[in-house]
Amino acid sequence: MASRLFRGPLRDALMGRLRAVPVGGGSRQSSSAAAEPGAAAASKPPLPSKKAVDWSYDRDGYCWRGLRNGWLFRATKYVNPFFALLDPEFAHRLAILAASRGWVPREKRPDPPILGVKVWGRKFTNPIGLAAGFDKNAEAVEGLLGLGFGFVEVGSVTPMPQEGNPKPRIFRLPQERAIINRCGFNSEGIVTVTRRLGAQHGKRKMEETSSTSSSNDEAKQGGKAGPGILGVNIGKNKTSEDSTADYVQGVHTLSQFADYLVINVSSPNTPGLRKLQGRKQLQDLVKKVQAARDEMQWAEDGPPPLLVKIAPDLSKQDLEDIAAVARNLRLDGLIIANTTISRPDPISSHPLAGEAGGLSGKPLFDLSTNVLKVMYVLTQGKIPLIGCGGISSGEDAYKKIRAGATLVQLYTAFAYEGPALIPQMKAELAECLERDGFKSVQEAVGADFR
Ligand SMILES: Cc1cc2nc3c(=O)[nH]c(=O)nc-3n(C[C@H](O)[C@H](O)[C@H](O)COP(=O)(O)O)c2cc1C
Repeated sequence: MASRLFRGPLRDALMGRLRAVPVGGGSRQSSSAAAEPGAAAASKPPLPSKKAVDWSYDRDGYCWRGLRNGWLFRATKYVNPFFALLDPEFAHRLAILAASRGWVPREKRPDPPILGVKVWGRKFTNPIGLAAGFDKNAEAVEGLLGLGFGFVEVGSVTPMPQEGNPKPRIFRLPQERAIINRCGFNSEGIVTVTRRLGAQHGKRKMEETSSTSSSNDEAKQGGKAGPGILGVNIGKNKTSEDSTADYVQGVHTLSQFADYLVINVSSPNTPGLRKLQGRKQLQDLVKKVQAARDEMQWAEDGPPPLLVKIAPDLSKQDLEDIAAVARNLRLDGLIIANTTISRPDPISSHPLAGEAGGLSGKPLFDLSTNVLKVMYVLTQGKIPLIGCGGISSGEDAYKKIRAGATLVQLYTAFAYEGPALIPQMKAELAECLERDGFKSVQEAVGADFR
């Protein structure tokens, strides 16, 4: 009830009052901003005329002069300190609850056109996504997409429900802007997640088809169910003896709702999982999963692209093997990377360094970016890569793109900084691209190697 009121008349009244207030410092403006309204700009309320579109940037994120909801994102900054006082897993539950109920800001400003990217025949309005593990059970897809992410990846989902490792299993290292987790694929299982995705899919489709643009371009704007693009990340059960069967089951049930699928073989918290990254094992697995996906009936859109998510702790030989499998089997993409079992500086001397689990956040940035670079070279830039690990600013996202990523994802920085980070990152990334003379994200992909 309260949420409906907040989403409806109360919010409109509040926003209406603020509409006349000038937004942002206006440190920089782009003249080409009116080219193409992004998907986040829902049909209601009507967008200003092209002439009135005027991008400006400020330290709190991009602003569209006269537009209404930037303040809501900024307001979330005041809630973060409260979350930081709570147990990490409880705080996370609250965040999911808030996003699932719509108690989060909804981005109505279109993305800066320079951020648009076309991959797998789809148009992403911006390349910044939410990484797997945040919404493991697809409880809050709409709310999270509404924050302005270019895409959201749910999962990892396991075939059978499982509890994961005993708590506590998530540890904050706030000074280092890092997390150590050993969740161990806590998942409600494919039956529940499929049911949930099915219900949301229909709803999103009905609500959002009106806002998908009808371009003549061969790339489709947004995902299957509307402008928001949804990735589904599949895992295996801890006690399963047939990993391949687990992934195939995931594909059979979940792929109908996925704009892309991810085989996660890199979580450090499921015994034996990362062995699936070995050349022979990965080749067998990918072949069988591709076959499972392709034997299903697909509409004209075709089957969802299949990606593999890899660890940042692999040797050069491991990476060469993975690149060979990716090329030979025409894998659609790789996500680089999952959490690390290493403890790079300054974590090595941290009192929590000895906690078992995967490390994420800032200290993972260099390691994962180096792996990304190696993989970009090994795959000769021919396979789309999603850069993930330690991204906490638009500049970081830009570095990953220059290192070879077509899209990027984050988790830990979002957990620390909250929704306000997203518009801020988009503004910074747009600024970086413009500063260096790129006209699009695509132009900057792999720029470090040219
Ligand atoms: C608490 C937590 C749970 C995660 N769970 C998953 C998961 O279920 N599946 C997965 O592929 N990655 C999972 N990840 C890894 C993230 O998707 C991401 O690859 C990693 O955290 C690095 O990105 P970051 O530094 O931006 O957090 C998890 C990360 C954290 C912190």
